[in-house]
Amino acid sequence: LTPQDLAGETFLITAGPTREELDPVRYLSNYSSGKMGYAIALAACRRGARVILVSGPTALTPPAGVLCRNVTSAEQMKQAVLEALPQSTVVVKAAAVADYRPVERAVQKIKKGKPEQVEMALVKNPDILAAVAQAKTEQLVIGFAAETHDLESHALAKLKSKNLDLIVANDVSCPQAGFDVDTNLVRLFYRDGTSEQWPLMSKLEVADRLLGCVERLRSRESS
Ligand code: C5P
Repeated sequence: LTPQDLAGETFLITAGPTREELDPVRYLSNYSSGKMGYAIALAACRRGARVILVSGPTALTPPAGVLCRNVTSAEQMKQAVLEALPQSTVVVKAAAVADYRPVERAVQKIKKGKPEQVEMALVKNPDILAAVAQAKTEQLVIGFAAETHDLESHALAKLKSKNLDLIVANDVSCPQAGFDVDTNLVRLFYRDGTSEQWPLMSKLEVADRLLGCVERLRSRESS
C-alpha cells in the first residue's frame, strides 16, 4: 500500500506544451509530451495529495482522481494557474510554455502569397512562474529547466530570478532525457546552493523521488 504521506497537500502541476495560434489552422509549439508533469500528478495523487493539473494539449489521459484543467495557450495557462494558486500548497511547473506568440492571430486562414520569404512578428509570453512568485503566499514552488547547453548556469539563474525553492534541470540534448521519452536524467538545484545529480530513471521514479524532496523541504521549513 502506498503511504498517504502527502495527504493535506494540494499540488498545482502544469504539464505539456502550449500552442500559440497564428490563424485557425496553424500554431507555434514545442515537442513537450506532458509525460513528466502527468507522472508527478499520478505519483502525488497515489500518495494522498489533492492534485490540480493544468495541462496544455497532450495525447495523455489525466490520472484518475486528478482535477484536470485543459488549456491551449500560455495566456490561458497563466489564468488557470493564478486561479488555482490560492488553494494550492505546492506548485510544480513542468510545462514547456512557449516563450513567444504571434503578435496577431488572423481570424481567417492565412493564404500563401507570392513572396518566397515572409516574416512573422512575435511578442513575449508572460512568465507564469514569475507571476506565481509574486502572488504566492506559503506555497513551495518547483520549476523545471530544459536546456541543451550550460545546464548549471541556466538552472541557477532561473532558480534565483523565478524565486524557486527547487529547480529540476534536464539536458534535452541527451536522447534518454527530456521530451517525449519515458526516462529522464535530472539534476536538482536547491535554494541553499546544494545540488544532486540523479541517475537515469523512469519519469515515474523521478516523480516519486521528487515528492520525497518536497516532503523534506516541508519538514525543514517546520523545524
Ligand atoms: O522557459 P524556461 O526555461 O524559463 O522555463 C523554466 C520554468 O519556468 C519551467 O518550470 C516552466 O514551466 C516555467 N515557465 C513559466 N512560464 C513561462 C516560461 C516558463 O512558468 N512563460
